[in-house]
Amino acid sequence: MPSASDDLAYSLDPVLWAREVLGFHPDPWQADLLRSRSRKVILNCSRQSGKSSTCAALGLHESIYRRPSFGLVVAPTQDQSSELMLKFDEFRGAVELPSDYLSTDTKLAVRFANGNRFIARPGSEKSARSFSAVTLLLEDEASRVLDDLYNSVRPMLAVSNGRHILMSTPFGKRGHFFKIWSEERDLWEWYEITAEMCPRISKEFLEVERRTNLWYLQEYFCVFMETVDSVFTFDQIAAAVSDEVEPLFGVDQY
Ligand SMILES: Nc1ncnc2c1ncn2[C@@H]1O[C@H](COP(=O)(O)OP(=O)(O)OP(=O)(O)O)[C@@H](O)[C@H]1O
Ligand SMILES: [Mg+2]
Repeated sequence: MPSASDDLAYSLDPVLWAREVLGFHPDPWQADLLRSRSRKVILNCSRQSGKSSTCAALGLHESIYRRPSFGLVVAPTQDQSSELMLKFDEFRGAVELPSDYLSTDTKLAVRFANGNRFIARPGSEKSARSFSAVTLLLEDEASRVLDDLYNSVRPMLAVSNGRHILMSTPFGKRGHFFKIWSEERDLWEWYEITAEMCPRISKEFLEVERRTNLWYLQEYFCVFMETVDSVFTFDQIAAAVSDEVEPLFGVDQY
């Protein structure tokens, strides 16, 4: 067990804690994210840059050092939310907690003796909307999370004044992840992390990908590419929309 003074230092500095306790040495942007207290954060990052791992560390730090804390992970599929949970579990294995600290532990839900919870759910609106008072909402692979789910989970943060962190690689010019990035970014703390900023992705690997992967810019350089099944480009549609034309039929106020 850490001494009381170490524990205080760990509670105040998640980066120190991650390094010394988890053996996780955050990249500069990961350190910024771990220390951030912003309520709304959007991460537009290269594949494999370390978004899920960092958010798992962040979730574990909050579970141990903040009260009350209720972390909820949502992702398009159960497999994807389980990935973040696996990382959370791996990190948890590195932390020496008092033996009575953990009261329930299934693969997808952890309840700590201090009452805190950390839960991973798949991407259907029904399976996620039953929760309330979420203090940390982690939306993994957010560009592929359905807008219905996004809209139904947001109110869970209202009363708890909880934090919402969206993390993703782009997936076309569509959905809430693209909308926030392109139109509402000023309301969010945002991170744009390309593969070149990740010390674990080599130049050689990227060069092969550049020549062979059609989605190279999207997967590694945070670019929202046109959706392949669209007849018109996003810019063509945006240019065709005008506020000056009155709708032919009444617009529903609600
Ligand atoms: N700071 C770090 N130091 C060492 N390894 C790291 C660091 N950050 C991430 N990794 C490792 O990099 C790999 C990718 O991490 P992770 O799965 O978190 O990335 P991701 O951005 O969520 O990837 P994906 O795009 O596939 O979802 C993992 O093996 C993880 O352990
Ligand atoms: Mg991931």
